[in-house]
Amino acid sequence: MSKTESSANQMESIVSLAKRRGFVFQSSEIYGGYNGFFDFGPLGIELKKNIRDCWWDDMVRRRDDVVGIETSIIMHPKVWEASGHVGGFTDPLVDCKASKQRFRADQLFFAAVVVDSTTHGYVSALESEDTTGELQAAAEKVKRKQAIQGELAAVVAQEFTEATPEQIPLIPSPATGEPGSLTPPRDFNMMFDTNVGALRDGSSKSYLRPETAQGMFVDFKNVVDTGRVKLPFGIAQIGKSFRNEITPRNFIFRSREFEQMEMEYFIHEDADWESSHKEWIQWCWDWLVSIGLPESHLSLDEHEKAKLAFYSRGTTDIMFKYPFGVQELWGIAARGNYDLNQHAEASGKPQEIFDEESKKKFVPHVIEPAVGVDRIFLAVLTAAYAEEDVTDDKGRTETRTVLRLSPRIAPVKVAVLPLLKKKAELTTRAKALYTKLQRRYAVFYDEAGAIGRRYRRQDEIGTPYCVTIDFETIEGKGDTFTLRERDSMAQRRVTEDELLKLLDEQVY
Ligand code: GAP
Repeated sequence: MSKTESSANQMESIVSLAKRRGFVFQSSEIYGGYNGFFDFGPLGIELKKNIRDCWWDDMVRRRDDVVGIETSIIMHPKVWEASGHVGGFTDPLVDCKASKQRFRADQLFFAAVVVDSTTHGYVSALESEDTTGELQAAAEKVKRKQAIQGELAAVVAQEFTEATPEQIPLIPSPATGEPGSLTPPRDFNMMFDTNVGALRDGSSKSYLRPETAQGMFVDFKNVVDTGRVKLPFGIAQIGKSFRNEITPRNFIFRSREFEQMEMEYFIHEDADWESSHKEWIQWCWDWLVSIGLPESHLSLDEHEKAKLAFYSRGTTDIMFKYPFGVQELWGIAARGNYDLNQHAEASGKPQEIFDEESKKKFVPHVIEPAVGVDRIFLAVLTAAYAEEDVTDDKGRTETRTVLRLSPRIAPVKVAVLPLLKKKAELTTRAKALYTKLQRRYAVFYDEAGAIGRRYRRQDEIGTPYCVTIDFETIEGKGDTFTLRERDSMAQRRVTEDELLKLLDEQVY
């Protein structure tokens, strides 16, 4: 039986488990932490590596039409001028002059307090699962406090970006609750800058990349000239990206240093881009399911054509139901040939490909599936986390915490447990199996404590299988064990060959 928890409690439980069991730590914690930066602990880095490896295997190694690259994090500053990031990679920023806090104008909402058709001031709230509910409650409070008689109208939430110059001084800051301290929104460039070389002036200014994608565009000709690739083909990369987010939040969901897995799929200029776009949306969806995300938590959000960047033909996001609301997980964009054209113009180097059929040169178009490893990490943790009541062999009920992670990505695939620590025949056989399994899988050896407690420890970190070396093992030929499955907690006898076959099928 699963316990139902409020979404805030669920996030708290997950963050607490992540810390307690060594998945994720706040960066620089001994100095009070550093907002928007995180460290991955021993189990976290295994989980993260498995997500990356599954993506790389499925996206690059198991496809004939995609190749991988790794480009530098700091690139020539001209890359970011040509790509449009220097001029336009901005978020609308609002300052609260009283509290010195900063907000993203598109995540800050306000509403008029209207009683009997007369406006009695404004209320504000930061974006949440129930922004309108919060604004309504704030409006009711204003009415009560000011003893306004009459009927309060239902609030209409508006983004702060839509506030008029007359409204701005009247909207209370979410930090202080008082009006008069919020500034009009201004563009804030999210790229982190740095200086390259000994001089620290404008000529040495450079940037930490805010996306990995530009590496694929800038190296396009290098790959075409050396990689024996033919259209349609993709170039993929996994790597760190950096964005000076105004409001990093929701644990690792929106951070300032994160990891992206992006692929640029180049297609003929006359190709049917819509069907290629659709195929990639489906591919990404199926891949998420293959690593264990339930389809019930996934949905599609097709961006309105009117709101797309001028060069974009279409973008669809795969959304995920996080405990704090439905949010973007994976963006799949049809970007035309904008990026290659921009780099051709800025560098003076044509970015064309020669078409054998038409004997023509042209600039290919691109479909771009772009996803954050950290967002997948959080999605799999939240979907896998469960607390359930179970009855032990003495009839006592207890709550077990379990991470129902797919064997594909679980940090530990199998735990090897000798039934008794003091019985050398059991531990010797267990260690032999452990050493053998270690060659191919992440395995854990644990001989400390009661077997039930050892199972619980593995449940909590998502280990799909435990293998117990017991008396039947050593009394027989030594090649059968008790296999205990995490989700059903069912136990059965397996031979070593059956165990190896099972792992081979489940971990790919
Ligand atoms: N090249 C296109 C691009 O970077 P994006 O929508 O800005 O597009 C792609 O980012 C993906 O990267 C997002 O769907 C999300 O999964 C991840 N991402 C973006 N900003 C992030 C942040 N601040 N923290 C964690 N992940 C982020």
